[in-house]
Amino acid sequence: MTKLTGLIGYPVSHSLSPAIHGYWVEEHGVDAEYKLLTTAPNRLRQTMLHMRRKNARGLNVTVPHKQAVLEYLDGLHVSARRIGAVNTILNRDGHFEGHNTDAYGFITNLKENAKNAAAMLQHVVLLGAGGATRAAIVALQDAGAKNITLTNRTLDKAIGLANEFEVEAAPWDERESLIKTATLLVNTTSLGMGGQPPLEMDLKQLPNDAIVHDIVYAPFETELLKAARLRGNHVVDGLGMLLYQAQAAFELWHGIRPKVTPELREHVLKQMAEHAA
Ligand code: ATR
Repeated sequence: MTKLTGLIGYPVSHSLSPAIHGYWVEEHGVDAEYKLLTTAPNRLRQTMLHMRRKNARGLNVTVPHKQAVLEYLDGLHVSARRIGAVNTILNRDGHFEGHNTDAYGFITNLKENAKNAAAMLQHVVLLGAGGATRAAIVALQDAGAKNITLTNRTLDKAIGLANEFEVEAAPWDERESLIKTATLLVNTTSLGMGGQPPLEMDLKQLPNDAIVHDIVYAPFETELLKAARLRGNHVVDGLGMLLYQAQAAFELWHGIRPKVTPELREHVLKQMAEHAA
């Protein structure tokens, strides 16, 4: 029987996940479909009940449900427990288990695209203190980063995360001097995303050999990445994180580890261009 999978979020109409999963479903001849399940916050319970009735094989979960969905699950994998959020659900014989593949997606993308993974982990500066920041911290600490500094518009949120994960926090208006010793700078805020305010950040104090990564992938090259590239820093775009978190979800649901290839990236970028048109 066709395996049902899909994405629960609000809004999800411009999601690239159907293009990614559809590509792999075809490549591997899996009998599965991937549906967009537009779910307003007050409809989450109904969607989850519906997916149980349909015996969905698995689900992705995105904004604004990554934390709210916890109460509709039967168990949590350690990946989700540590981050405190779920982006992937696996149905094990009717038991809905919450996972989080964002940390895997984050670190795999960085390692695949950065020349020297060990060097970049010396001093990491993270912009933001939201859900994406939590996944980034877990991934970076697992990879061996000892020295992580968070800076966020709302300092209290950065301090809260800093206490929880034993990292440093700094005020937002110090962000430009903070990067003086950075080996890796990551934007985990929504700033710079289409429809959001720009990220205002002068990079002149950033060392030339620091890597700059933006988890925002729409636009594909954000102003941060462009500015970094123009001054000679190595940059890593955010599309890879999306692709690798999907890779881990696909493997959980279908037992096949699909490949992230240049052809897949092209396919997804084409889809992005169509959405933008
Ligand atoms: P996510 O779960 O995707 O990380 P989030 O939890 O809403 O989303 O976090 C959004 C991040 O972008 C936060 O760090 C937020 O800063 P605040 O904690 O101060 O809200 C940051 N952000 C959003 N709009 C911003 C703005 N105009 N200026 C600075 N930071 C902003």
